[in-house]
Amino acid sequence: NLLQQIKDFEERFTVDQATLKKIVAHFVKELEKGLTVEGGNIPMNVTWVLGFPDGNEQGTFLALDMGGTNLRVCEITLTDAKGAFDITQSKYKMPEELRTGTAEELWEYIADCLQQFIEFHHEDENLTKLPLGFTFSYPATQDYIDHGVLQRWTKGFDIDGVEGEDVVPPLEAILKKRGLPIKVAALINDTTGTLIASSYTDSDMKIGCIFGTGVNAAYMEDVGSVPKLAHMGLPADMPVAINCEYGAFDNERIVLPLTKYDEIIDRDSPRPGQQAFEKMTAGLYLGEIFRLALVDILDSHPGLIFKEQDTSKLRKPYLLDASFLANIEEDPYENLTESLELFERELNIRPTQPELEMVRRLAELIGTRAARLSACGVAAICTKKNIESCHVGADGSVFTKYPHFKARGAQALREILDWAPEEKDKVTIMAAEDGSGVGAALIAALTLKRVKAGN
Ligand code: BG6
Ligand code: GLC
Repeated sequence: NLLQQIKDFEERFTVDQATLKKIVAHFVKELEKGLTVEGGNIPMNVTWVLGFPDGNEQGTFLALDMGGTNLRVCEITLTDAKGAFDITQSKYKMPEELRTGTAEELWEYIADCLQQFIEFHHEDENLTKLPLGFTFSYPATQDYIDHGVLQRWTKGFDIDGVEGEDVVPPLEAILKKRGLPIKVAALINDTTGTLIASSYTDSDMKIGCIFGTGVNAAYMEDVGSVPKLAHMGLPADMPVAINCEYGAFDNERIVLPLTKYDEIIDRDSPRPGQQAFEKMTAGLYLGEIFRLALVDILDSHPGLIFKEQDTSKLRKPYLLDASFLANIEEDPYENLTESLELFERELNIRPTQPELEMVRRLAELIGTRAARLSACGVAAICTKKNIESCHVGADGSVFTKYPHFKARGAQALREILDWAPEEKDKVTIMAAEDGSGVGAALIAALTLKRVKAGN
């Protein structure tokens, strides 16, 4: 019956304290492995962002932010007062079909957005070349800061001919073709942008995190702790930002408590075997996990739920996004009328009251599991770096919009890091909204400063 079903889900999706700790212990080892020459599951990409800005960065920069769901173009002017900047921005929705379209369509679309922005904000001006920070939020191998070879697409993207290639030349080629006065100064990840922008205004910020369509973090390492940089002869105490790309944590599937739904998501994704951690925690997958769990009841217990209703819509992969779950979780428990309306509107299904209670519990379980597992990445970086207390700058739709995500993540951190009940949170994850835009500008400024200084 339904109560038994709820119990089954509780067993499948609950991650207890002991499991969290086990995951973090393995996570720490994997972060370290990623820094070695041999490498491991987690790429630990060297970003060539060598230190934090000092507040004297100046100038006007463009930022192109290609995240999971949106494309943003920003123009940022850094003034010389520490932490001060002006920002103008336009947001464009990334059309769904671009994710699996051709490389040419992707670059044309990006160029359209940049062109529109320049034409709107700089009509009839005679512009000298504007330096651009390109926030390209996918794993990239960088030998220097203004280039980046895409290792593999993540977050459901699957565009042929880009993996294994440097993404800067095609962007520069199209900018040139259109006569746009823009020069790519730096290629950065959204986590690195978030780290740099957050620490610009709060020096306690030690980690930049994204909890959105994908999940990932960046932090500052010293070169001496990065064995894969040993051959370069750089000073051991030189800081370098590492983009962990820890969505790939435990691709070997040693510690993650995978359910059969996680297995299906992986199997049917464009890159099976990749991004194991991300597929359990990121916004792109939460609605799909929920949908698969309901389809499982329909198939394994025919007639138990949604009796005599047309459930064909529920069979469509990725029909539900994280906001569907978020809305259910926001609905007051008393009557769940919002959830009922949602089901009717999105799925043509009219659940009974006990069914509504079951789907509410299922949403809670999936949302809670995502938040608790997400905390493991943060705890692992703190443990690896011996950080007892710090701020963590976070961005992404799950962090900013999903109900209770912050509180659930904070609770998991307490359990993992063993703070006494009377102790305040020592590691606090806080919003760093719009970090990547400002971060990209700061990193572009840092880069130009370095070039000028000749190093
Ligand atoms: C945005 C940042 O706010 O959040 C992007 O500007 C980032 O750089 C994005 O990629 C992540 O969130 P989501 O939910 O769009 O993946
Ligand atoms: C995916 C990307 C990573 C990005 C994260 C958050 O994990 O691979 O580069 O930081 O999503 O957007």
